[in-house]
Amino acid sequence: MTSTARIVDTFLDFYRERGHALVRDATLITPDGDPVLFTSAGMHPLTPYLEGRPHPLGRRLAGLQRCLRTTDLDEVGDDTHLTVFQMLGSWSLGDYPGEVSLRWGYELLRDGFGVPPERLHVTVFDGDENSLRTWEQLGVPAEILGEADNWWSNGATGPCGPDSEIFVWTGEGPPTGTPSSDRRWVEVWNHVMMRYRSSDSGGTEPLGQSSVDTGMGLERMAMVLQGCRSVFDIDVFEPWTRVVPDRVVADHLRSSVVVVGDGVHPSNTGRGYVLRRLVRRVLTRLWRDDPKRSLGDLPIDPIGATVEQFRLRVDPEYVRDVLVYEERRFGALLRRGRPLVERLLARGPLTEEDLHYLHDTHGIPRDLVEEVFAGEPA
Ligand code: SER
Repeated sequence: MTSTARIVDTFLDFYRERGHALVRDATLITPDGDPVLFTSAGMHPLTPYLEGRPHPLGRRLAGLQRCLRTTDLDEVGDDTHLTVFQMLGSWSLGDYPGEVSLRWGYELLRDGFGVPPERLHVTVFDGDENSLRTWEQLGVPAEILGEADNWWSNGATGPCGPDSEIFVWTGEGPPTGTPSSDRRWVEVWNHVMMRYRSSDSGGTEPLGQSSVDTGMGLERMAMVLQGCRSVFDIDVFEPWTRVVPDRVVADHLRSSVVVVGDGVHPSNTGRGYVLRRLVRRVLTRLWRDDPKRSLGDLPIDPIGATVEQFRLRVDPEYVRDVLVYEERRFGALLRRGRPLVERLLARGPLTEEDLHYLHDTHGIPRDLVEEVFAGEPA
């Protein structure tokens, strides 16, 4: 079985041998002034360099970056989405063109990871003739799609461009259909031709240099290479799933460990609120089954394993203390809030005014009322 650690080594060695310098991973915390709260893609810390600033390590880079995506929160729990995940990346900063990146990608998948070429399918942006020709020459079937599927940007502003996504067949038997028609094609790697920049005004202008940004979802790649049905079945999830069978709980706890490890504390705003919501979603699910469950009973092993995997500089015991402290606060809030909400609900459905009253006078946030007290799914 190819371990997750081995995938990382194979990927980074491949690019090192092709002249790429390894960039150190950044934390999840984005720099001041960044429009988003958390690092959400491998390229994120490299944004200024993709836009043209010279990088001190040169024009060919590779690395492993932890990422957090709250946009996928509702999909977490399916087979392939995680809140915090790791992304292997390679970058050509105005150096080699996209075709070279695609050819290397194919070579690494086939020879480095042993993926049979007949289990590959790609998607290509409609109009990206160079990528289409390259895949035709390599003999990989390509599906041509539009902007909604094959144009990548990291939010409203910043570098962007057409992309080519690589999928691996995970079904039993020979592949059928295409990535957009059969979910058993799992996307593992995205190669973005970073040729444009979208600006605050909503326009898109060409960049002075043409770069390539690739990102491979590490946990998904491990799922494919380890022959697992879901990302929750891979080696690095084993310490979690052994103690927490619920996928959403396992995902959110593991994600919380990384977020706390990167220095965030639960709070009512910004990053702290994302963390607070993750912990509350965990507790809501746990207490639905058994109101006596406590994060204090969580063994230290999975926390320690995650701290180690992400090379966080934090004591696992401290992480658990943060979670338990938040659990106490949440428990107190529920005890205080329940009778208040019940009293209001006895008069009829909650009004905007009720929600403001609960929030402003009692510190009970709207989402909590909607998700927990009003019986909506958390
Ligand atoms: N930025 C692209 C992505 O996150 C490729 O790295 O998918």
